[in-house]
Amino acid sequence: MYNFSPMKKPDYLRRIMEINRISLSEVDSTNNYAAKLLLEGKVPHGTVISALHQYQGRGQRSNTWESAPGQNLTASWVLHLDNSHFEKIVALNKAISLAIRNSIAHYLPKSIVKIKWPNDIFVNEKKVSGTLIETQMHADKTATLICGIGVNVHQTKFQSVKATSLFQENPNLDIALDDLMENIHQNIALYFNEWNSCNSTKIEQEYLSQLLGMNERRSFEHQGNVIEGVIIGVDEWGRLKLETKDGMLMFQAGDIVWQ
Ligand code: BTN
Repeated sequence: MYNFSPMKKPDYLRRIMEINRISLSEVDSTNNYAAKLLLEGKVPHGTVISALHQYQGRGQRSNTWESAPGQNLTASWVLHLDNSHFEKIVALNKAISLAIRNSIAHYLPKSIVKIKWPNDIFVNEKKVSGTLIETQMHADKTATLICGIGVNVHQTKFQSVKATSLFQENPNLDIALDDLMENIHQNIALYFNEWNSCNSTKIEQEYLSQLLGMNERRSFEHQGNVIEGVIIGVDEWGRLKLETKDGMLMFQAGDIVWQ
């Protein structure tokens, strides 16, 4: 059961990206739900599917995404692109990370909010948000993105000591999940517009300026070995560039794990 209704929004946003909301009380995964809707027919650009309880949330690399019912944001945005160039899609992934980062920084203005490559959002070196972007390429060279975003909002108990929530970082915060969702929607709309209208260099530079560990020495695990290196960037293919004792090495997301 869901409500499908336009939300109130500022005029500038209406021109950029309409918001169509599908609010579910529970679902296996909002990304799965979006994929099923796309199979059934047209889903407008900017549709966002949110659920109060996601009981089989999916994370990157086939991980699960656990989220306490009713406490966090679990939502998926459907974005239609008229261009399926791989580098353009990588740049859009970076733009979406910046959009989420800025929303979280809006609620935690006194905290250090960074993007952990490729697209986690970390506050004070703990994870507050994860993103699972699933891309569908079409024969006519257009593409559709299902952009699933989980933000820990009110939850205070986590299995991992490296997880946090907005409330845990600032117990004075009283955030309505819908307000956070709308704030993220506005930022996605703004960055989508920027991505559409400019070359990717500006987005790439901004992404690097917000990257956790940029120009710092960090350790990773790669095929059972520890690799140490200074993070010197992320290329247009989305690969992490590390300056190591063996020279510059580049890694795809999933090939190395942060330590
Ligand atoms: C990760 O950090 O591994 C990515 C987590 C992505 C979680 C979100 S919650 C909404 C959407 N639906 C899912 O099943 N996953 C994403």
